[in-house]
Amino acid sequence: MRRAENLHAILVTIVLTLVCYAVPSSADTLVTTETVSRIAFGSCNSERKPQPLWPVIAKDEPSLWIWTGDNIYADTEDAQVFRAKYDQQLEHPGYGAFARRVPFMTGTWDDHDYGVNDGGNEYPKKELAKAELYRFLSVPDDDVSRERPGIYRHYDYGPADQRVRVILLDTRWFRDPLQRTEGPDRSYIPNTVGTVLGDAQWTWLETQLSDPEPEVTIIVSSIQVVASEHRFEKWANFPNEQNRLYELLSKYQGGKVFVISGDRHAGEISAESVKSGPTPLIDVTSSGLTNTWSRQFDETNSRALGPKVIENNYGLIEIDWRDAASPVVTISIKGTEGVIQATTL
Ligand SMILES: [Fe+2]
Repeated sequence: MRRAENLHAILVTIVLTLVCYAVPSSADTLVTTETVSRIAFGSCNSERKPQPLWPVIAKDEPSLWIWTGDNIYADTEDAQVFRAKYDQQLEHPGYGAFARRVPFMTGTWDDHDYGVNDGGNEYPKKELAKAELYRFLSVPDDDVSRERPGIYRHYDYGPADQRVRVILLDTRWFRDPLQRTEGPDRSYIPNTVGTVLGDAQWTWLETQLSDPEPEVTIIVSSIQVVASEHRFEKWANFPNEQNRLYELLSKYQGGKVFVISGDRHAGEISAESVKSGPTPLIDVTSSGLTNTWSRQFDETNSRALGPKVIENNYGLIEIDWRDAASPVVTISIKGTEGVIQATTL
């Protein structure tokens, strides 16, 4: 009898262990219960160009890789072009070795892998682009985000007291058209009535942020949230939406929510005070893996912390869990040799 009880206990332990470490099913957003201490991310990656950074990033041994947009340069409405370009990326030998080594991969899109430069809700091939991105990222067939418009979704990583939540925003599908000046430079002017996220994504985002469970939350926005003075794409092109995000974060930021972004062909760290947050909101932009400006350029960013990075770069999030109740998060932008070029430290 006692032997049977012991056998039963052993079987229960084995089953529970398998359940804990199994890849979660379908709608489950908990990806792993193993502690995640290093997350790498990057953007602006041409599938046609040499990609020397993959072995450099691998040396940092991230548990998770996050594509932050412009993961390929598709710029098309043609499914075959999407497929061929994603396949070219998947077959890139450096990327293939990297992908086999990193346990988890996820990501969002920006304009070029959405299908059109600076595109928004007017782009007609959203569903097609979503299907190809999800194929590229191996998003499960029953992922809850497949049943709704857009690609916004979240995933959780780590044990219950060391939980990291990655919130992947979709800044393209619902975004109203940009407004531009007349004349030769056609620069953007603030659109004070349009939306970036759309109603459903806003509601969903507040649900994610109001959950007290995660110790660390990473918001992935393909376009910059904080840097507001340059003439390119940014949340500040929709000032009402930028303020709405700041107000939401002022309720929930608590020093544990960080933004990462891409798109700009340069890396930089920007900081903005949000009302009740004990620390400024940090937006770390890493761009790009292959596409960067070839020279320094004058650009005002009064919220910048440190220099602009114009060599090819990636981002690294490091979480020190020694005090699990108050983990220390450091986010760095690292260059072609893996050397830190800018850091929140
Ligand atoms: Fe972009």
